[in-house]
Amino acid sequence: MKTTTLLLITLTLALCSISFVTPKLKPCHQNSADSFSLSNGKKVFANNCAGCHGASGQGAYGPNLCDKYWIHGSHYHGIVHVIKHGVSKKGMTAFRHTLSHAQIRDVGHYIILTLKGSNPSGAKAAEGKLHK
Ligand code: HEC
Repeated sequence: MKTTTLLLITLTLALCSISFVTPKLKPCHQNSADSFSLSNGKKVFANNCAGCHGASGQGAYGPNLCDKYWIHGSHYHGIVHVIKHGVSKKGMTAFRHTLSHAQIRDVGHYIILTLKGSNPSGAKAAEGKLHK
């Protein structure tokens, strides 16, 4: 009887410690579905956007994408919204029918992670509101 109780306690303790050391599994959507490619984003930018925003995003016909001033907001989702839907009255093309989801995602990340705040020389004057 005593041995059985001791055995049960030992077994319970062993099981508890296993659950402590087992790494928590990540939900699968965090693994790869939302990964992006900055090098692809750079390519998409050069081929579709540089003509209006400048090769380094410094601004030309379109606004400077390298400063802290944004007309439509500086966050990823706002930027992606402008890329997808454009601003027809102001001459910003809508890309939802010509670029894939992955291309829009990659160029959106390229803007917020590489261009934003890079302040290249010869940049166009700031437009919009300051977003820190
Ligand atoms: C035909 C010219 C043109 C092309 C091509 C173009 N844009 Fe624009 N873009 C503009 C103009 C003009 C605006 C300003 C819109 C406004 O004033 O509301 C703008 C605005 C933006 C904004 C918002 C800037 C802010 O301050 O909020 C982003 C982001 C943007 N463009 C990204 C892109 C990306 C990415 C591409 C390529 C996939 C691209 N644009 C291609 C002309 C262009």
